[in-house]
Formats: sequence, C-alpha cells, structure tokens
Amino acid sequence: MLFSRTSLVVASLLAVTVAARPAEKRWGGWGGSWGGGASNNWWHSAPAASFGDFGKRWGLDSGSCDMAAAVQNMNLAAADPPLPSPHPGLSLFSVVVGRGTQNYTCDLSNTTAVPTPVGAVASLFDVSCVAATAKELLPALSVIALNLPVPSSDDTSSPIMQDMTGHHYFLDDTTAFFNLDTSLHQYGMGALQKANASDAPTTSYAGPGGQGNGAVQWLKLDVKPAAQDSFKQVYRLDTAGGVPPKMCTGSPAAFEVPYAAVYWLFK
Ligand SMILES: *[C@@H]1O[C@H](CO)[C@@H](O)[C@H](O)[C@H]1NC(C)=O
Ligand SMILES: *[C@@H]1O[C@H](CO)[C@@H](O)[C@H](O)[C@H]1NC(C)=O
Ligand SMILES: *[C@@H]1O[C@H](CO)[C@@H](O)[C@H](O)[C@H]1NC(C)=O
Repeated sequence: MLFSRTSLVVASLLAVTVAARPAEKRWGGWGGSWGGGASNNWWHSAPAASFGDFGKRWGLDSGSCDMAAAVQNMNLAAADPPLPSPHPGLSLFSVVVGRGTQNYTCDLSNTTAVPTPVGAVASLFDVSCVAATAKELLPALSVIALNLPVPSSDDTSSPIMQDMTGHHYFLDDTTAFFNLDTSLHQYGMGALQKANASDAPTTSYAGPGGQGNGAVQWLKLDVKPAAQDSFKQVYRLDTAGGVPPKMCTGSPAAFEVPYAAVYWLFK
C-alpha cells in the first residue's frame, strides 16, 4: 500500500501540551439520534451489527472531548509490571478501540513448535470522549468490540467504513503501523515498534464469548528511529483475546486469533 508521510513538527522541544483533536465527524452521535434517525439510536431494539453500529448508538465520539482529562485516565498501573509513562513532550491525540485479529504461523514440520506472532490487523474506532469522561467503560468496550463482528470490507461506501477512524496493521513482523489518514480525514500515521510489554491483568477477557487462550500483553510502542511519522508513542491497553494456543499441535500453518484493545496514540 502507498501512503504519503505527513511531515512532522518535532514535538520533543515542546512543553507538555494537549493537542486539539479534531472532532470525529462520522459517528452519528446524539444529534442524529435525537433527530429520530431510526438506525442511529442506542435504544434501537435490534442487536448491534458491529462495533461501529454500537458506537453510533452511544454517541461514543459525538464531538470534542477533553484530552487533558483523558490522559489522566490512562491505567498504566494495571499491567504487571506497570508500563512506563509517555514521553513528557508528547500530546495525547486520540484513544481508539482496535478490533481485529492477531496473526500467527506454525512450523508444521516441527512437532514441538509454538505459534510465532506475525502481526495484527485491526479497524480503529475513536473512543476519546469515553476515555475523558468514563474510563471505567474502556475495558468493557474491548469486550463488547470482541463480541461483535469484525468489519471485513475495504468498501468505503459501506456504513462501517464511514465510522472508522483508521487502520492498524504491520509492515513487517515487528513494525506496527497506525494509519489514521483516510479518504475522509487526515489524522496522521505512524510506524512503531515494541518498547515495553507487560502481562494483561489476570481478570482480562480471554476471547469471544469469554472463551479463549487469554488477552494479549499490554504494550508501549515507540516510533521507529528513522520514521518521520505523526504518532510517536502508542499504548495498547485493556486487551481482550488474541492469545494463540501454547503449542502448534492441531493448528494450521497460518491462523488468526480475534482480539480487541484500547490504543492510546500520542503525537
Ligand atoms: C492476517 O490477517 C489478515 C486479516 O484476515 C489477513 O488479511 C492477512 O493476510 C493475515 N496475515 C498473515 C501474515 O497471515
Ligand atoms: C521446534 O520448536 C521448538 C519450540 O519453538 C524450538 O525450540 C525448536 O528449535 C524447533 N525445532 C526445529 C528443528 O526448528
Ligand atoms: C522500557 O523500554 C525501554 C526501551 O526499550 C527500556 O530502556 C526500559 O528499561 C523499559 N522500561 C521498563 C519499565 O521495562
């Protein structure tokens, strides 16, 4: 895939600031709901068809929200051991729920092989206002997202794609990419690598329906050394699912494990 890299104002010389985050316009939010849009109400009687649909009903990101309050609500201490704090020169840009799959491969010629992580693919939905006002809901949003279908289409005319803030995928086995530039907005992108990892809390959700091998680790990712990207640090917290079986026995050569997580993106 081809992407134009956004040029960057070096943030490290700035004092601690809070970026003015552009309002996510594509959630229906309360405005549309009160206006009587039948498919856009949280009290709609049908089950949510997707996480985007769920988000619309709750007006999860219906305008500007207080990112200074949100950054105070990062629960780094819940990981074991606690993850390091973000760099003081950076600003919290957005908090998103990621819903997708962790991918693994297995060496089928090796009877004692264990699954090897080969990246992840996820759709990102903005939940910055929840992070600012109701941090207790964040772990639940991962669980809800994991139990709703994953968007599968790149058709930008589909309703779910209209609600998406961006995409998370890997450029290679160790380079996590966050792409929040879409045909509808230019929020930035970033190529990052793992800096710190801690086990998810033991109470974390193990997989869809509560069944699975566990929740993937909480991570702190740092921008790759040469990358001139917008996002400098990204945290993966409040994970649900994503852990493969311990051994490859009975697994195919390549497989996916559904997961969701809350990502905190700093510029
Ligand atoms: C990982 O999963 C995604 C989503 O299904 C898929 O498109 C991709 O090809 C997979 N990657 C690998 C390396 O298997
Ligand atoms: C088989 O997998 C085990 C576990 O990952 C590994 O230690 C071992 O080196 C592998 N054997 C071969 C021949 O690749
Ligand atoms: C986090 O990662 C950095 C860079 O990889 C390392 O220097 C630091 O010791 C780590 N901190 C913790 C608490 O693991």
